[in-house]
Amino acid sequence: MTYLAEAPPVSERLRAARERAYSTPLSEFHPGNPELFRTDTIWPYFERLRKEAPMHYCTASPPAIGEYWSVTKYHDIMHVETHPEIFSSDVRLGGIMLRDVDPQYEWPSFIAMDEPRHGEQRKTVSPLFTPKHLGELAILIRERSASVLDNLPRNETFNWVERVSIELTTQMLATLFDFPWEDRRKLTRWSDVATALPKSGIYESQEQRLAELYECGEYFSRLWNERANAPPKSDLISMMAHSDATRQMDRENLRGNLILLIVGGNDTTRNSMTGSVLALNENPDQYDKLRANPALIDSFVPEVIRWQTPLAHMRRTATADTEVGGKRIKKGDRIVMWYVSGNRDEDVIAKADEFIIDRAQPRIHMSFGFGIHRCLGMRLADLQLKIIWEEILKRFERIDVVGEPKRVYSSFIRGYEELPVRIRA
Ligand code: HEM
Repeated sequence: MTYLAEAPPVSERLRAARERAYSTPLSEFHPGNPELFRTDTIWPYFERLRKEAPMHYCTASPPAIGEYWSVTKYHDIMHVETHPEIFSSDVRLGGIMLRDVDPQYEWPSFIAMDEPRHGEQRKTVSPLFTPKHLGELAILIRERSASVLDNLPRNETFNWVERVSIELTTQMLATLFDFPWEDRRKLTRWSDVATALPKSGIYESQEQRLAELYECGEYFSRLWNERANAPPKSDLISMMAHSDATRQMDRENLRGNLILLIVGGNDTTRNSMTGSVLALNENPDQYDKLRANPALIDSFVPEVIRWQTPLAHMRRTATADTEVGGKRIKKGDRIVMWYVSGNRDEDVIAKADEFIIDRAQPRIHMSFGFGIHRCLGMRLADLQLKIIWEEILKRFERIDVVGEPKRVYSSFIRGYEELPVRIRA
C-alpha cells in the first residue's frame, strides 16, 4: 500500500485550498475538476459558491467537458430534480454526468432516460427492493458481514477498502444477481471500468475499456439466457428475464440496465462503508457516543451517507428556456446538481460541516437524489450499512485509521482507493 507520505499535512493543505478558493475569481472556478476531489480540497470552493454565486456558470473547464451550470444550494437542486420535464437525463442529450457521454459507446439504461421509458423500465426491477425481499436479503448480508469481519487481522495494518468495503459490496451484488461466486470480483472490476475517467489509471485505453465492458455484456447475456430458459427465481437477472417489460428489451438496453445496477450498488455502498470508519476516526467524540449507545446506528447511517455523499453530482440538460435561482437557463444548457454541496447547505441543515450521529432529521440529506430518479437501492444501502455496523460494534472496541486515505480521482464518485486501518487484539 502507498500512503500519501509525500503530501503536505492535511491542515496545511486545507488552509492553502481555502486561500486559493477565496482568491481565485469566480469566473475561473471549475468545481468539476477531479483533482479538487482527489485532494479533498473542494469544500471552500462550494462554500464560496453557495454564498456568492449559488447558480454559477463555468466557462473555465477544458473543451472536452464544456461550459456548465453548477447548482449548489439545496432548494435549487430540489427544483431541478423535481422538474424532469424540463431537466432531461437523456443520454442522447449528454446523460447524467458532467462530461457528455457518447451514446455510441454507452448502453442505454433507465437512469439516463426520461419518461415514459424511464418509468416503464424502473418498474421491472423495483420489486427487488421491497421490504419483504430486503428482509430476506438481510439474513444473508448479516451472515456474510460476520464472516468477513471475523477473518480480519489484528494488530496489523490493512486496507479497509480492499478487505471489507469491496469484499462486502461485491458479495452483496453477487447475491442480488445470483452471480457465480468465484467470479464475483469481476463485478467490481466492471463497475470500476464503467465509471472511471481516462486519467484515473483504472484502464489503459478506451479500446481496453470497451473490450472489458463487452466481456461484461457477454457474461450477462449468457446468464440471461440460462435464467430465461429456467423457471423464474428471485434474483435480478431472472426477474428481468421473465418480466414482460424487459423481456423484449433490446440487448444493448438490457446490458445498460444491468451495468447500472452493478455500478449503482457498488461504488456508492463501498465508499459509504469506508467513509463511516474515517468519519468516526476524525470525530472521536461521535465514535464514543456510538459505542456507548449502539441504538444510534439508525441515525448514524444516514449521517454517514450525507457526510460522504458517494455520488457528488448528477447532471441534467435543459430542454427549454427556463429559470433557476433567479438565473436564465437556455435550452441545451448543461446543469450540474452538486449533492455534495446541497448536503452542506446551512440554510437547510444546521451545522452542516459537522459530523453528528444523532441529528433530529438525519434523512433530509440529498445523497440519494429526489424525484422520479431517486435512488432505487437506497433501502438496501441503508440496510447494509446498518448491519455491518451492528456486527462491528459487537466485535471490535475500535477500528483505528493509521494513515491518510487515498481518494478517487473523480468529481462524480466521491470515494477511496485505500484506507489503512488497524484493529487492536
Ligand atoms: C449509499 C449508497 C447509494 C447512494 C448514495 C446512491 C445514490 C444514487 C443517486 C444520487 C441516484 C440518482 C438520483 C437522481 O438522479 O435523483 C441513484 C440512482 C439509482 N441507484 Fe443508487 N445509490 C446508492 C446505492 C444503490 C444501490 C445499493 C443500488 C442497487 C443495487 C442502487 C441503484 C440505483 C438505481 C437503479 C438508480 C437509478 C434510479 C432511476 O433512474 O430511476 N443504488 N442512486
